[in-house]
Amino acid sequence: MADEKDPSTPKEPAAGAASAAAGATPTRPPDTAAAHPAGTAAGSTPPLPTPPMTAASAPGGVQAAPAPRSNAATGAAAPAAAKTAEADGVSRRGFLKWTTVGWVAFSAACTSGLVASTRFLFPNVLFEPPQSFKVGFPSEYTVGEVDTRWKDAYGVWIVRNSDGFYALIAVCTHLGCSPNWLAAENKFKCPCHGSGFYKTGINFEGPAPRPLERARIVLSDDGQILVDKSVKFQAEKGEWTKEESFLKV
Ligand code: FES
Repeated sequence: MADEKDPSTPKEPAAGAASAAAGATPTRPPDTAAAHPAGTAAGSTPPLPTPPMTAASAPGGVQAAPAPRSNAATGAAAPAAAKTAEADGVSRRGFLKWTTVGWVAFSAACTSGLVASTRFLFPNVLFEPPQSFKVGFPSEYTVGEVDTRWKDAYGVWIVRNSDGFYALIAVCTHLGCSPNWLAAENKFKCPCHGSGFYKTGINFEGPAPRPLERARIVLSDDGQILVDKSVKFQAEKGEWTKEESFLKV
């Protein structure tokens, strides 16, 4: 039938032929200038060496499935099994890793809680200098001088006059700053707001409303001077005349 038609007329590929090509062994793409020279019928084309079938070369966009081969199936199953085993290994490692992380975090939280709980068993302790202390023998002091050796350690000045000793507490009676003894000016001077006190402790300048306070001062059994800051004497209350507010020698 094809031979009876005009060989110059372009031939359309038969649908049956295309279908056969899709299901049959792949052949070269039909109806191309290289595949079908002019005037050659499709059915009369001599068999050519069959090229590898690809999606692009399959006629009508239909890809021919390669014939399954037993060795190919075996080769595909092996990588799949390897991938499964690898996935199992990864998930197992991930599980162990996150389990370890969880235990470490749990242990850290427990340790922190234990430390915090233990901290409450010990009360806050404020270390302050003792209120009662010895400041040496009377012979160690010079008449007319203010001894500043005990200010930093105990917060007192020991003043020696011609009659004896008294201990001035080194706290400003304005707002509680610590004044300094200015020997050149013969006075105590507060650095905060400028209050000034005579050597006796009486205030004479600045905002301080009252004199410095004195501490109990006595001789101890060993002959040293004993100062007790827990007992204080205030001039405005007439307490500087009390026994133990002044140590006579
Ligand atoms: S605290 Fe000493 S003058 Fe104010």
